[in-house]
Amino acid sequence: MQQGLTLSRHTSEYAGTDKLRLAVAAAIDAIAGASIEISELIGRGPLAGITGEAQGSSNADGDVQKDLDVRCDEMIIAGLKKIPFAALASEESETLVLGDPDAPISVAFDPLDGSSNIDTNMTVGTIFSIVPNKPGEPPFSAPGHCQLAAGFVVYGPQTSLVLSVGNGVDIFTLDRRDRTYKCIREQVQIPEHTAEFAINASNHRHWEQPVRDFVEECLAGADGPRSKDFNMRWIGSLVAEAYRILTRGGVFLYPGDSRPGYGDGRLRLLYECHPMAYIIEQAGGGASTGRERVLDLAAKSIHQRAPLIMGSVDKVQRIEVLHNDPAAANITAPLFGHRGLFRV
Ligand code: F6P
Ligand code: MN
Repeated sequence: MQQGLTLSRHTSEYAGTDKLRLAVAAAIDAIAGASIEISELIGRGPLAGITGEAQGSSNADGDVQKDLDVRCDEMIIAGLKKIPFAALASEESETLVLGDPDAPISVAFDPLDGSSNIDTNMTVGTIFSIVPNKPGEPPFSAPGHCQLAAGFVVYGPQTSLVLSVGNGVDIFTLDRRDRTYKCIREQVQIPEHTAEFAINASNHRHWEQPVRDFVEECLAGADGPRSKDFNMRWIGSLVAEAYRILTRGGVFLYPGDSRPGYGDGRLRLLYECHPMAYIIEQAGGGASTGRERVLDLAAKSIHQRAPLIMGSVDKVQRIEVLHNDPAAANITAPLFGHRGLFRV
């Protein structure tokens, strides 16, 4: 694909005359269209009456809903209602939005990921996952590797749409002059050897031992078993963390922990973990719960959570070994307890 190619040209070339692909392309174009409106709304912020204040309500998973969450949800649904779909699953709706049961696809989405940051003018995003609809099978019941396409939009200094239709990952940036997404990076590959890790360290006391061990190894830096100094990053916005990993590599962890309700972490399988895992794998990285591949999980409920550990393959594999075979991992973390920020 050539640099500067528009997203709509890309989706139309991908679709050709194939019925299923045409439905996927229409969904991508609809979400992209809504995301341009969302980008403009967010860009105006308080000038457009956006305060980032809570609505006084909470979504299906108990998160406080911000005024923008609800407006972005309406904008995406309005876009998708123009195309054939069997079901829509949104972070902001308790139940599915049902369409034509014979339509070829269903779409799961997080309309505004990271929205708790909106009042601080930080990067937020929209995440989506497009899955096949099999008549007779409940929507969204297939494992993540069945996704037909996945992507996310980051509303940062630039608004960029990251997309995979199962043939690598391409990134399109919004050209605000003509309201068109244009390709800026094609066939993105996650760098293999980098030294950044991202985790909300305030949850340290709730983590399982393998997660503590991995973080201890990173904190031990050049003096530790990894013989390398690491940098820690935590933006608190999944889309921004994923974009950084696609650019600079490293690893992101939102593991399960011992807080009530956090046994499977915080992120939702259908519209956060599945699409991110699909994109990261398509870019040559790995995505795991710590114990198994995220794309092998199938959801049993719409808002089900799953642990998500994603990024450069070597680090994701190391974390899996620490979980699944600690003896083989030759755990050294306690040796470094006296050097670490966190003693274990
Ligand atoms: O959607 C959930 C989310 O806002 C992600 O964007 C982000 O990675 C995570 O929650 C941050 O969680 P916490 O506030 O627990 O660090
Ligand atoms: Mn989210």
